[in-house]
Amino acid sequence: MRIDSKTTVVGVIGYPVAHSLSPQMHNAAIQSLGINWCYLPFQVAPEDLAKAIQGMRGLGIRGLNVTVPHKQAVVRLLDWVSPEASAVRAVNTISNEGGRLEGYNTDVEGILAALRLGVGLEKLPEKVVVLGAGGAARGIVYALTTVTDVRNIVILNRTVQKAERLAAEMENMAKGKTRIKGRKLETETARVELREAGLLINATPVGMYPNVNCSPIEVSSVFHPRLTLVDTIYNPKETKLMRLARSQGAKCFNGLDMLVYQGAKSLEIWTQRRAPVKVMKEAVMELAPQPSALGQF
Ligand code: ATR
Repeated sequence: MRIDSKTTVVGVIGYPVAHSLSPQMHNAAIQSLGINWCYLPFQVAPEDLAKAIQGMRGLGIRGLNVTVPHKQAVVRLLDWVSPEASAVRAVNTISNEGGRLEGYNTDVEGILAALRLGVGLEKLPEKVVVLGAGGAARGIVYALTTVTDVRNIVILNRTVQKAERLAAEMENMAKGKTRIKGRKLETETARVELREAGLLINATPVGMYPNVNCSPIEVSSVFHPRLTLVDTIYNPKETKLMRLARSQGAKCFNGLDMLVYQGAKSLEIWTQRRAPVKVMKEAVMELAPQPSALGQF
């Protein structure tokens, strides 16, 4: 990679950010595109977020990915927010268009790409269970209600009020097309709700490295062979949740495709060029060789 006085800077802000695979993924893509760009990690504590965004303006940083815990807080600091990001109330991509900061949510594209590749959008079941009611879950429920024909979504969350609030808000947006219910995340509720469900999506960070011995659902008997599990976690390659579900014959995917496709979409917003998805996928596979919906190229 050549860095000179004309290099365009993009990057990622998060707290922590050291675990992020985005720098390797994007720099591989940048190299493949042959452009004079550089993608850097910036660790930004929550109390420094506004200063970081001001810094982006001041330094003319071309684009930033935004990761945990800033996706929701960053929205009010931008000049314009896309309809998707506005509905999800979370931004994971900022594009600096000549000083005007635009916010996008490419996580929505990421989950749709993962479902397209892993299951097929036309083959999605009538009923889907989503674990979690935070930023990631919001994007997933939004994607399911606006783009797919899923009819019935159940959101299970540790804090039941958050699940109920998200369910009511998204059901309202779906205008009667999708039934959405919020319930408390506990084994017996999961058992009842999963019985008729064909797809389970984990949108909690439970089980993510280093807490690899944790799982949002701790018993395997709630899973069945008609179930597909998409875990948004990609480190470790197989979460405890995936292991439990797989032991009962469920088909499992990790969050690698989501990571790659949200990143690809971000890069396309910034560069206006087609992202080299294959190169990006290979770059993250090299760091964390994992089975995913895409399989091997
Ligand atoms: P993200 O943007 O990654 O979704 P978030 O907005 O902080 O992050 O949301 C995290 C989600 O994971 C929430 O639904 C959270 O549950 P609460 O609403 O009860 O906080 C869920 N979560 C986090 N840690 C959890 C744990 N140990 N057990 C169960 N759920 C957990």
